[in-house]
Amino acid sequence: MSPSAAARPGAAIPEGPALAPSILSADFARLAEEIRAVTDGGAGLLHLDVMDGHFVPNLTIGPPVVASIRRVTALPLDCHLMIEEPDRYVERFVEAGADMISVHQETATHLHRTVHLIRDRGVRCGVALNPATPIATLDDILPDLDYVLLMSVNPGFGGQRFLPAVIPKIRALRETIAARGLKTRIEVDGGVASDNLPALLEAGATLFVAGSAVFDGKDPRPRAAGLVQILRRANGAA
Ligand code: DX5
Ligand code: ZN
Repeated sequence: MSPSAAARPGAAIPEGPALAPSILSADFARLAEEIRAVTDGGAGLLHLDVMDGHFVPNLTIGPPVVASIRRVTALPLDCHLMIEEPDRYVERFVEAGADMISVHQETATHLHRTVHLIRDRGVRCGVALNPATPIATLDDILPDLDYVLLMSVNPGFGGQRFLPAVIPKIRALRETIAARGLKTRIEVDGGVASDNLPALLEAGATLFVAGSAVFDGKDPRPRAAGLVQILRRANGAA
């Protein structure tokens, strides 16, 4: 991952394939415990889904919860902003301790400005694309991004069915990134589970968000460990 301007000291983002459990499906009353369990299970980062009830039909967490999570974990915090007018909130998520912030292409009218707001604070910057948004919409901004988050469900809820059309999309984006000599990472989010992880890795994703496949009301540690093991095996075989 290419360093953002003025990179902050802090949690290191894994260079290789990494599991990013999404706490959306976790037990919020026992969040610190749930986070410890996925850390023990080998999670490389923690994915925090921020929803505003406008861009997506659901409400979740904001900066105060991110700040509380920051105090109980050393894992890099990967904040996925599914919100309108992201520029208004970037600073607050940076202050709360975000290490990575992604905004949706569909919400940012002045995407270049938003991306640089994030980068100028030394936070890794990503842009997320809904399943129906073509990767060509990122052609001009790609060199400024640390990562692209490709949605493999329509954002808003955990536990939805994986949309396999993301696989050729990942492959095409990887080819574009390689052809342009960039180091942009590809993150995939939605319906990620043991059965599709190897194909997603093979296509070119290296950051894997998983919510309901990790948190299902039971101990998330073995769930996370199982997915991490699949990733390691598939990566070794590649
Ligand atoms: C969906 C969120 C995802 C969600 C993934 O809008 O962006 O991060 O938590 O959950 P699963 O893995 O259950 O699809
Ligand atoms: Zn997400």
